[in-house]
Amino acid sequence: MEVREVGVVGLGTMGAGIAEVFARGGLSVTAVEADRDALARGMSILGSSLGRAVSRGKLTEDEHAQILGRVRPGSAMTSLSGADLVIEVVPEQLAVKRQVLAELDQVLRPTAIVATNTSSLSVTTIAAGSAYPGRVVGMHFFNPAPVMRLVEVVSTVLTEPAAGQAVTALARRLGKTPVQVTDRAGFVANALLLPYLNHAVRLLETGYATRDDIDLAVTAGIGLPMGPLALLDLIGLDTSLAVLQVLQREFGGTRYTPAPLLRRLADAGRTGRKSGSGFYDYPAQSPPAAGSPAGQRAEPPPPGTVTLIDPAAAGARTGAAEGAGPHSERAAELASLVAAAGISVTRNPVHPTDLVIVAVGPQGGVLGPATAAGRAADAVGLHVAAPGLAEIVPTPLTAMTLGCGYPRGPVRMLAEAGVERAAEVLAAMHAGYGDPAFAPPPLLTDYARGGLPPLGHEAS
Ligand code: 3HC
Repeated sequence: MEVREVGVVGLGTMGAGIAEVFARGGLSVTAVEADRDALARGMSILGSSLGRAVSRGKLTEDEHAQILGRVRPGSAMTSLSGADLVIEVVPEQLAVKRQVLAELDQVLRPTAIVATNTSSLSVTTIAAGSAYPGRVVGMHFFNPAPVMRLVEVVSTVLTEPAAGQAVTALARRLGKTPVQVTDRAGFVANALLLPYLNHAVRLLETGYATRDDIDLAVTAGIGLPMGPLALLDLIGLDTSLAVLQVLQREFGGTRYTPAPLLRRLADAGRTGRKSGSGFYDYPAQSPPAAGSPAGQRAEPPPPGTVTLIDPAAAGARTGAAEGAGPHSERAAELASLVAAAGISVTRNPVHPTDLVIVAVGPQGGVLGPATAAGRAADAVGLHVAAPGLAEIVPTPLTAMTLGCGYPRGPVRMLAEAGVERAAEVLAAMHAGYGDPAFAPPPLLTDYARGGLPPLGHEAS
């Protein structure tokens, strides 16, 4: 069946983007939003996206007018009666989606196809509420819909093969790349993507790295177009949370447990770009470029002198003087990079310098060599992860973000219990119960190994 007339129900960010894709593909689109303001907002998202394409020279004014002319805004479901395919892009609530499908049952021809853009609900469950479940297909677009090429076409056990084939053919006609998937939580892309994004939130909330450095590590080091925290803001923290929750329900374990910070921000309404703030702030007029912070950080002046500690060299463990034993390849490389920047390098840990660097590998381990060299209090690890990316690895004593957002109470309690004891008890519980939640965090193990008091103890 050839699809000529389509309907889009729900004109949020995704709905407006999908309507744009359809209209650009030459289809006649009816865009429905029950709420008048939401309809106006959705049409304005669509208008500005097309306007941006004109200003970038990707569309002419004529093409812009033609595309916009193919989109007919409406507030009643009855305006969809002539559609060959209607896609629902309403909020991710089963009751709301089922209500939309029930209304479509009343107005559409029995041969019309009903697509759902759900990212977190079961297409089967949505379809089962329809009087015609065989015509219900998942058609999962990615944000921003006009740009991302993938469309996941989700067939359920109830879907008639012809409906799945028609949606696949339509996606191709729109210039998208369809992949066929069955109805499994997260389908393919979200099941792979969301655990990674969630992990980034955990890194942030446990103070291992700053927001900007986490995103930079991914864009500059791995080469992805956006950092994970910027991407969460684009997707929407509420949507991301919903996807993680469904993955957790379906597969269990701790892998998909949403990071508490993600849940807190979503609960607070800081859902990302659409609300004006998430991990980043998005001023109404000038949103920051993807993956980049809203403002520039003032850089401190570079150090003039650096002590380099090489964990692989015997000298570092014994605190021996400069020149004892050859540098490992990693430390030698770092030493020449530092020297090339015009900074004087010494290997003698007792030499007073502006900065102490431990040349760590990808597995980290700053504290041991820094403590052995007697410089635990002012050493930072440096790992050259890729030609353009240096990972800075603070020790617990130099981690200025440690404890951010955490109440002081538990840290004081930890000081009273003793870090070694706390790490031992956690390790015993982990061994006894096998629950990864009891595994002593590496930071605690570092404290215990270094024989150091917790930060809160020092501060109090
Ligand atoms: N709407 C429409 N077009 C947009 C857009 C938007 N919101 N944002 C960017 N674009 C267009 C620009 O107009 C430009 O088009 P052109 O090349 O024809 O001129 C093109 O995209 C590139 O934009 P920019 O030059 O402004 O910016 P970037 O090069 O930084 O690209 C990006 C922006 C396309 C968003 C890129 O950073 C990217 O690909 N990011 C990854 C996005 C991603 O992973 N999406 C999937 C999320 S998962 C999901 O949605 C599933 C859900 O169920 C959770």
